[in-house]
Amino acid sequence: MKIAIACDHGGLRLKEVLKNYLETNGYMVEDFGTYSEDSCDYPDYAGKAAKAVASGMCDRGIVVCGTGIGVSITANKVKGIRCALCHDVFSAKATRAHNDTNMIAMGQRVIGEGLAIEILSAWLEGEYEGGRHDQRIAKMMAYERDE
Ligand code: RB5
Repeated sequence: MKIAIACDHGGLRLKEVLKNYLETNGYMVEDFGTYSEDSCDYPDYAGKAAKAVASGMCDRGIVVCGTGIGVSITANKVKGIRCALCHDVFSAKATRAHNDTNMIAMGQRVIGEGLAIEILSAWLEGEYEGGRHDQRIAKMMAYERDE
């Protein structure tokens, strides 16, 4: 599985931790930056990762900023993206099972590294349940087409 990852200056340290976890566990990683703690604009980086997922270049995506909020909003503006902001393991499992999310967002200033890895692992391993959730996701995605 190929994973797109991106962050702003407020998420750099956590991005590096998550990237290291992914590479250690056999995932391919495409890192869209940022690469330093110099102040930058999170949409520049979250948008690139989201487009890589939407285009099929990457299978899933992870975005990190200080709160996780700015990067999650940005990712969800890209057609085809369902990005969940998760700071607990229950939500990470539930959003795979119910929302079939293809991206996850986290905030470096919100949670510790150990919990972030638990969340990422639960999300990556979680299976979409399908069934009743199919029509809900179809209705959600119809808003992108202004239906
Ligand atoms: C940067 O200071 C901060 O605004 C950003 O990392 C993020 O939290 C935005 O949602």
